Formats: sequence, C-alpha cells, structure tokens
Amino acid sequence: MKKILVTGGLGFIGSHTVVELQNSGFKVIIIDDLSNSKIEVLDNITEITGVKPEFYKLDLKIKSNVLDFFKNKKIDGVIHFAAFKAVGESVQNPLDYYENNIGSLVYLLQGMRDNNIDNLIFSSSCTVYGQSDELPITENAPIKTAESPYGNTKQIGEEIIKESCKAYAMNAIALRYFNPIGAHPSIKIGELPLGIPQNLIPYITQTAAGIRKELSIFGNDYETPDGTAIRDYIHVVDLAKAHIAALNRLLEKKNTKSFNFFNIGTGIGTSVLEIIKTFEKCTGVNLNYKFVAKREGDVTSAFASTKNANEQLDWKAEKSLEEALLSAWKWQQKSNNV
Ligand code: UFG
Repeated sequence: MKKILVTGGLGFIGSHTVVELQNSGFKVIIIDDLSNSKIEVLDNITEITGVKPEFYKLDLKIKSNVLDFFKNKKIDGVIHFAAFKAVGESVQNPLDYYENNIGSLVYLLQGMRDNNIDNLIFSSSCTVYGQSDELPITENAPIKTAESPYGNTKQIGEEIIKESCKAYAMNAIALRYFNPIGAHPSIKIGELPLGIPQNLIPYITQTAAGIRKELSIFGNDYETPDGTAIRDYIHVVDLAKAHIAALNRLLEKKNTKSFNFFNIGTGIGTSVLEIIKTFEKCTGVNLNYKFVAKREGDVTSAFASTKNANEQLDWKAEKSLEEALLSAWKWQQKSNNV
C-alpha cells in the first residue's frame, strides 16, 4: 500500500482529498497545525472512509519539526496543502504569509530530498494568471505580477519546486485551482471559514442561514453579460479527485517533465448573479443581497481550459453547480458554523 503524506489534511480541500485517497487504497499520514481547521475533522474522515488516518499536529514553520518527522518514515508521495490563503490578510501581514507558505515549503522539500521522496503535488491557484487576456485560460497563459502576497507565495512556490525538481531529480505537479466549493455528499466534511467568510459561497450560505444580514455583491459594472464577475466554480470532490489523478501520474512515472502544472476547473464561467439565482432555485431559499463597489484586486473573468487536465491526467469535473451549491447549503445547515 502506497503511503502518502498530506499536509493541511484537515482543511477544506485537504480533508476531501484524504477521503478520496483512502477510498482509492492509499495509506494516508496527515500533518496539520490546526491553525485553520478542527481536530473533529479527523473523526469525520474516519466515519466516511472507515479508516483513521495517521495524524501529527505539527507546525511546518519549525525546520526541526519537519526534518525530525521524515526520519525513519517510508513515504511514497506528498500532497502539500498547508498554507495561509486569505488574500486581504496577506496584504496586511505579508511576512506571516512568506514565513508560512514559503518557509514551510522549503523545509518540506529539504525533508523530501534528504529522505529520497520524489513525488510532490502542490496546491497552486489560478491567481497566478491574474486577469488573463485569453479565456478560457490555458496553462500557456502568461503569469502576471501577483496582486497580493498570497498570490506571490503561489508563484514563488511553483518556482522553488521547479528548481528543486531540476536539482534533486524530484517530480512534481502543481494544480492551479479555480474556485473550489461544496461539501462531501455525506455532509460530514465541508468548508469551515473562520470568522466572516471572504469567499462567495460560504458568505451566501451564512446569509441564507440568517447568520449574515445580506450578501454584498462586489461590483455590477464589470464587462460581463450581467455586470457581475465570472469565475469557474468546481465541486471540491471533483477537485480532490484531480489530486489522485495527478498522484497516479507521478507514481506511474508518466510525468513528461519533472515539474508540470495543470488548471483544475470545470471550464464553465458563472457570474455572481447566476450563482445567486442557481442557489435560490435549488435550495428554495431567497437571498438578501445588495450591490457595492468592486473589491480591490478582483479580476473580471476567470475560467479554465481543462483540455490538458482532461487529456493528460485523464480527469474531468463531473458534478454540477446545483449539486455543489446544494451540498454547501446542507453543510451550512448541519454545521451552522459562524
Ligand atoms: N464576491 C462577492 N461578495 C462576497 C464574496 C465574493 O460579490 O462577499 C464575488 C467576488 O467579487 C468574486 C466572486 O464572488 O467575483 C468569487 O469570490 P471569492 O472570494 O469566492 O473567490 P475569488 O475568485 O476572489 O478567489 C479565488 C480564491 C483565492 C485566490 C483568488 C485569485 O479563493 O484563493 O481566487 O483570484 F487567490
């Protein structure tokens, strides 16, 4: 049985990926510092899969923690999620973002190198493209100067991995996520935003639940058919499955370059107003909303070309937007997280 280390394995995307890994017959070791996740998620993963993953509460910012962890462990691959991810917060506190997102990555790579662990999947983001001139966005679209320290950590992270692959004969795939949403169909795991949600879907579900008064739509004069911004919303279970496909590509030595990257989205662009309409229709709940000024740093439109992921990873997003929104709503009702 292949052993996979998942850092940040109790977080939103991490926990869904651990479930898919265990369902696909991998043995999982989770490292999480619980800075943006809850230990209960470990039990919920166990309930879904019937298998309790090995768990270590560990701060990856401390180099000795990381290097000690790897000693005497046989690990076949690493999926690295653990990172801070709030765009606005990264502007307020860039050094914390560089320390956590870059420092930890460097130590992790050193640990992998020293213990001959070759295979790495890295959580990257479509944010590396900024406002792309081409739509849908292919992997050939130029990387734009990052809009935030958070975005910069993803760009720099990819560079560090690429150079490490070259120098130490490692293999890696960066998955550039578009907008992950939804919850596991069991409704036992989902997104757990801390405080006021920054992302659209948790803000919508909290508004529908009466926790927030109304949703503010950031901008209604974008150059889009209805004036609101367009994104590619992907069900988190589909996104989790993309990690298994990418991991298998590495383990089967099919990666054509030592460092490769793929866009992971549905290929479908949906506006904020379309999201609201679809949410209202599939849940039967009406949403209070108002239009406010654009949010700084937001792009008009971003959706993926999925051709490379479809063909080279043999993976495709399968779940509908309705299914994703309904699962997010059920999760909200169950967890009633504030
Ligand atoms: N939006 C609102 N109101 C809200 C929240 C969001 O109108 O309360 C709008 C945004 O303006 C945007 C869309 O809903 O048009 C989606 O916003 P999200 O914050 O959910 O997602 P983003 O596309 O802004 O963010 C995603 C990832 C980030 C990444 C960023 C880069 O979540 O990690 O893309 O563009 F950095």
